[in-house]
Amino acid sequence: MSQLGVLTAGADCPGLNAVIRAVVGRAALSDCTTVGIMNGWAGLLSLDAHVVNETTVRDILPLGGTVLGAGRLNPVREGDDRLPEALAALDTLKIDGLIVIGDIDGLTVAHTMAKRGVRVVGVPGTMDNDVGGTDYCIGYDSAVSTVADAVDKLQTTASAHHRVMVVEAMGRGAGWVALAGALCGSAHMVLVPEIESSIDDVVRRLRARHDAGHDFTIVVVAEGAAVAGLPRPAEEQPRTTLAARMARPSVGEIIALEIEERTGYETRVTVLGHLQRGGSPTVYDRMMATRFGVAAVELALDGQWDRMVALKGNRTLAVPLAEARKGRPADPALYELATLFG
Ligand code: F6P
Repeated sequence: MSQLGVLTAGADCPGLNAVIRAVVGRAALSDCTTVGIMNGWAGLLSLDAHVVNETTVRDILPLGGTVLGAGRLNPVREGDDRLPEALAALDTLKIDGLIVIGDIDGLTVAHTMAKRGVRVVGVPGTMDNDVGGTDYCIGYDSAVSTVADAVDKLQTTASAHHRVMVVEAMGRGAGWVALAGALCGSAHMVLVPEIESSIDDVVRRLRARHDAGHDFTIVVVAEGAAVAGLPRPAEEQPRTTLAARMARPSVGEIIALEIEERTGYETRVTVLGHLQRGGSPTVYDRMMATRFGVAAVELALDGQWDRMVALKGNRTLAVPLAEARKGRPADPALYELATLFG
């Protein structure tokens, strides 16, 4: 193999650049050139790609985002099948093997391409930590650190004003970030997509806390939390009219309003949003990104295509790329732990 392609497909997260650096560095050790494809699958379709070398990537390990750009364009989405174009682009760019760093959607496209003969290896990268087949996705630790830090800061102002603080974390389909952020920030309640809750229950628990003498409470809510009677957000929010979008409060905002209305406790809401996807990766993400990036190139050099690098326990190994699309809901044991002291 003489020329590897690398792209970051789906949403960005901290640690992607550390994977790119590891891929380029490890490939160079085996005299293999790396071509960086820009903006996910979109760059492949438009042939927006260029050679990246060790000098280009030397200083990118601590940088958030991705120097290759990210994008959610999906070339094999039903009714919009641009797969033949993507396959032709790989030929044009003379790419012998492709490393796809991505979320469930990006890795599912990669597997579809593998079924059509493309030589591809996947690396799980999403702060949602919900890719199937692996115990870890790049970006998760960094996102959790941001949530925990925010909850720490909100504790002091909540305590000073004797308020309820609702903190909305990302996670439309999986509650990993909300759970670990709540646990590490010692929040008092957490609502996630995997375990249905109700506003009645939240109110009951809040009253019990107040009756027990606690005069402030932090509630972490995943943006896709399952709350009886509330609609779940669609996987991708449709870009409808401005009026419709303005009339669509987030789950955190609804819960905060309901709490204040029903209990009379002064309540504020903080939507952490894209802060969780930004900034420099933690040391754990830098280490995992380096392990995953090197392992991905070694799989490619070994001809182990249609595989994904995964963490199982503390071991880096390869699993079938098809595993990615199965997803991975948050661990109920983590929920138990996060709610133990609430
Ligand atoms: O897939 C990662 C994720 O961060 C989700 O948790 C979140 O719902 C979504 O991306 C936000 O996507 P966008 O940046 O397109 O608004």
